[in-house]
Amino acid sequence: MENQPKKLTTASGSPYFENEDSMSVGPRGPLLLQDYILHEKMAHFNRERIPERIVHAKGSGAFGTLTITHDISNYTRAKIFNEIGKQTRVFLRFSTVGGEKGSADTERDPRGFALKFYTEDGNWDLVGNNTPVFFIKDPKKFGDFIHTQKRDPYTNCKSATTMWDYWSLNPESLHQVLILMSDRGTPDGYRHMNGYGSHTFSLINADNERVWVKFHFKTAQGIKNFVNDEAVKMKGLDPDYAQRDLVKSIDTGDFPRWNMKIQVMTEEEAKTFKWNPFDLTKVWPQAEFPLIDVGSLELNQNPDNYFADVEQSAFAPAHVVDGISYSPDKMLQGRILSYPDAQRYRLGGNYEQILVNRCPYAVTTYQRDGQMRVDGNGGRTPNYFPNSFDTIIADESYKQPTQDLNDSSQSSLVAGWYDRNAPGENDHYTQPGNLWRLMTPEQRINTVSNIVGAMSGIDGPKRDQIVNLQLCHWFRADLSLGMAVAQGLGISMETMNSAMGVQHA
Ligand code: HEM
Repeated sequence: MENQPKKLTTASGSPYFENEDSMSVGPRGPLLLQDYILHEKMAHFNRERIPERIVHAKGSGAFGTLTITHDISNYTRAKIFNEIGKQTRVFLRFSTVGGEKGSADTERDPRGFALKFYTEDGNWDLVGNNTPVFFIKDPKKFGDFIHTQKRDPYTNCKSATTMWDYWSLNPESLHQVLILMSDRGTPDGYRHMNGYGSHTFSLINADNERVWVKFHFKTAQGIKNFVNDEAVKMKGLDPDYAQRDLVKSIDTGDFPRWNMKIQVMTEEEAKTFKWNPFDLTKVWPQAEFPLIDVGSLELNQNPDNYFADVEQSAFAPAHVVDGISYSPDKMLQGRILSYPDAQRYRLGGNYEQILVNRCPYAVTTYQRDGQMRVDGNGGRTPNYFPNSFDTIIADESYKQPTQDLNDSSQSSLVAGWYDRNAPGENDHYTQPGNLWRLMTPEQRINTVSNIVGAMSGIDGPKRDQIVNLQLCHWFRADLSLGMAVAQGLGISMETMNSAMGVQHA
């Protein structure tokens, strides 16, 4: 039967023949209203586009497998980690951030690294980037920041002035901006970069004990970046470079892999950590919090249909599963709200029923109805709780441990919960400075040249003010970094000194 030719039908399944010639009054006459097939074709075509993601619109995705290689059950009871050798199906979507759906893959930008693990306790989404930190540490700033990465309302072009204006006025971005300006801002496709959960999350074990955790995915292909010129050229040669590279490698059986690792911090350690452990602009130094092996992630299946699986995929930091939970990271808290909200708009209220988003295990809710309800809608079972008819139970073993905000063991971390920005948490310079000092001479040369190239685009009446303010940040991170950028921009010592003086005043 498989090889039998299929009959062409309407969307309602009625076979038909006239697929190219519309029904007309005689061969040369006007068209008839009754040609329903013509209406169906034109009307469906007009509805092919859905809103693109407000950020991370350009992306590529593939299915794969996470295999557990090490036991971390002392930290977490999450079933995905409960056995060495255990395999869980995953979907991973990579992306750039600022460009539209048709933009080039090799833009200087962070890369998204969004994972959906189809675990037996529900889908766990880890929606990370290829960088361990981010530009801001408060979700209230997100919309403003993203506006600076998108098109100018007047010129409809991207603007170096806007970007550097924002970054120079928001020095907490410096760590991420330095990474972005290094060659890690232009990775060679998606296979040669690391992924990070970035936020601090929590793990909860079978004894209800909590530790703080960061997730890392180290590329087994090795890090490979484009230098600036190569990335720029590739935008013209093949704007879909990363998409093509991913599909090809999986099609030819060269399955990309990442080694999954975690960093763990106890609640005690968190109280004395030099920085706020929930600040997304900071890393946890690996010398103090070493990487712990967890497993191996492999991508081994291209989706058959891009729109069905990649475009309609919906990831949400809100989606955690038993044994993995949130933390007081303000950015994470903001993201818990933002993603499902965006997806209800982008895909509709029943978006979790779309195949790529659907949990392959039992989903038992009392939610019913709504547009595009495409499962059985609960059939004739009760749509309210509690009731005397069904056998659905709220299983007490999934009860979450409470986090008492007034608990003395937590007080030094969260007592300032309702504060906006605790004093002493504005060290935006030590970690970018450390990163710069870690770079090889070649990495430093490329990074400075990228910064100089990018900052050279700043123009308009506020040019000097923006350049000087940003220079102060580079100087504060490291004197040699500031000097190199200033030299590259052709700025004299005299101008620099007066700019620093103004800044210090
Ligand atoms: C408060 C800060 C943030 C807000 C409000 C925010 C909001 C959003 C929204 C609305 C989307 C589109 C979702 C969709 O339509 O499916 C998105 C996509 C994405 N965001 Fe964020 N974001 C924030 C910070 C971050 C951070 C810190 C990371 C990484 C560590 C990140 C990584 C991603 C990724 C990878 C995607 C694309 C997911 C996919 O492939 O579908 N975002 N973000």
